[in-house]
Amino acid sequence: MNRDILSKIEQEQMISREELEELLMTTDQELIEELYRRARATAGKYYGKEIYLRGLIEFTNYCKNNCYYCGIRCGNAKAVRYRLTEEEILSCCDNGYRLGLRTFVMQGGEDAYYTDECMCGIIKNIKDRYPDCAITLSLGERSESSFKKMFDAGADRYLLRHETADYAHYSRLHPSEMSAENRQKCLFGLKKIGYQVGSGFMVGSPYQTSEHLVLDLRFLQRLKPEMIGIGPYITHKDTPFSHYPSGTLKKTLRLIAILRLMFPTALIPSTTALGTINPRGRELGLCAGANVVMPNLSPVSKRKLYDLYDNKICTGEEAAECCECLKRRIESVGYKVVCGRGDAAGFKTVRM
Ligand code: 5AD
Ligand code: FES
Repeated sequence: MNRDILSKIEQEQMISREELEELLMTTDQELIEELYRRARATAGKYYGKEIYLRGLIEFTNYCKNNCYYCGIRCGNAKAVRYRLTEEEILSCCDNGYRLGLRTFVMQGGEDAYYTDECMCGIIKNIKDRYPDCAITLSLGERSESSFKKMFDAGADRYLLRHETADYAHYSRLHPSEMSAENRQKCLFGLKKIGYQVGSGFMVGSPYQTSEHLVLDLRFLQRLKPEMIGIGPYITHKDTPFSHYPSGTLKKTLRLIAILRLMFPTALIPSTTALGTINPRGRELGLCAGANVVMPNLSPVSKRKLYDLYDNKICTGEEAAECCECLKRRIESVGYKVVCGRGDAAGFKTVRM
């Protein structure tokens, strides 16, 4: 009967609230092992034993938003702010390219300093230097025309987690200037432009219920993103949520596996947040069906300042050490690192 749940999810790519609760709550180890086994088999069917690397460049921690969970919220006066210059960004890419990385993820807070013109210039320069690399942007919400300009300049992918699909829950995690509606609108706009799109949510964020998680899965089914990133919510001491506990390893791993069954070809990262709540979190994420990891290429002098949550890992290591460390971890669980852009299975970028 329990196995039936897994087969049903695989076949229908659908899950009910009851089934989700059963999988998240069960103490039946056999069932959970079977869930992970099937998730691994599904990932293996499309991606073999191959794990993609994405070089993460955290280029600004200025942010105009004030999300209650996030350490770089504008209201956190203790955050020490930095911006990378174009040269510094290009030098992160040089470093990453030499280490074999072929995707650069430019991630930052919502920082108006980086205008469309400025971003397009940076994107073009990276693409000129490395035409064989993919550029992923993760800069939050912008206008559709801004998304379009950056796509035309050469950006390939965009990460924007929806955070929670439930409007009321969204408004408990964010101040009133922000809305789930606009965020979701951005995501559909990005798809329409032609980006490979990534979305996702935090696991165990304050007030989150299993109903919310079912809505998250339904939202993702509607959006059909190429990439899905989830990680545990982790407390940050200087935020309004400093008293809420972090999400758990167990729940995050089970959700990764469920996502893999529901979205067989998705690129699913084993995130830094997962590695932060457990020393083997990222390895376990791969064993639950994730197939992407993101070594940090940011200048070591700035690493600690991109402080989304407490005790974030990979803040002291040079890019090369971070890559080596990840390679070892990936191999320790029987997977291998691949160079190459690692586009979603079957995706072709079309630029008009
Ligand atoms: N814990 C875990 N993840 C967080 N993020 C922001 N703050 C936290 C936190 N305290 C995540 C959000 C955001 C991504 C870049 O980092 O989901 O989209
Ligand atoms: Fe970054 Fe281990 S992966 S230091």
